[in-house]
Amino acid sequence: MPSDAVGGIRLTRVTFGYSSGADPVVDDLSVSVNPGESLALVGESGSGKSTLLYLMGLFLRPTSGELTVFGTNPWNYGDRYRSSLRSSRVGFVFQDACLDERRSILDNVLEPTLYRSTRSPSAADDAAKLLRDLGVTSPMTRRPTQLSGGQMQRVALARALAGEPVVVLADEPTGNLDLRTRQLVVDALFGHVKTGAILVIATHDLELAALSTQQVRIS
Ligand SMILES: Nc1ncnc2c1ncn2[C@@H]1O[C@H](COP(=O)(O)OP(=O)(O)O)[C@@H](O)[C@H]1O
Ligand SMILES: [Mg+2]
Repeated sequence: MPSDAVGGIRLTRVTFGYSSGADPVVDDLSVSVNPGESLALVGESGSGKSTLLYLMGLFLRPTSGELTVFGTNPWNYGDRYRSSLRSSRVGFVFQDACLDERRSILDNVLEPTLYRSTRSPSAADDAAKLLRDLGVTSPMTRRPTQLSGGQMQRVALARALAGEPVVVLADEPTGNLDLRTRQLVVDALFGHVKTGAILVIATHDLELAALSTQQVRIS
């Protein structure tokens, strides 16, 4: 059960540009998402969906406006505060998975639990179950390089969920998936929201977006 996330994630008139001369990628956007809710970011390729997820994941800092996570502006604190918030409460699923190729898929999924002071004795079994629930049936000792793109993506999702994060930020989580595995991913994501978590997805999948509490179209 994710711990308390009162205040959710809130963006107030947030603007962000990668360089000061160019037009901002995110322009004066206000949106909020509360615990037990999901938000879908939709828009054409290049519209800024991933950028918005990186802002919510605290990898990028708004150029102007305010972003708060659980009622606090994380940019008012140091790097250590933000990395601790990220590692303890946020599960980020990058579009290109970003798995550690030197480790087995099981160890990749266990990664978020490694730095916890208390690690459940059942962590490895739980990780294996997450992978099975997501339809990853390859031997757990395999390396990510031996998997397909769709399998890597599901390993990355299992890794994000293994830390029982109160916030899940997922970039195109159903890209490259067939209908059956897509449904497994949908069930895992929205099942997690039912436990009180916050889910934000960047997606081209309009059916997936329609399942979310809220949709924001960016252009
Ligand atoms: N690291 C970066 N540096 C400069 N521009 C970037 C960078 N990442 C993305 N962009 C630009 O920002 C815009 C939005 O990109 P992105 O957020 O990846 O869109 P989407 O995820 O909707 O496809 C694009 O014009 C892209 O070229
Ligand atoms: Mg993107």
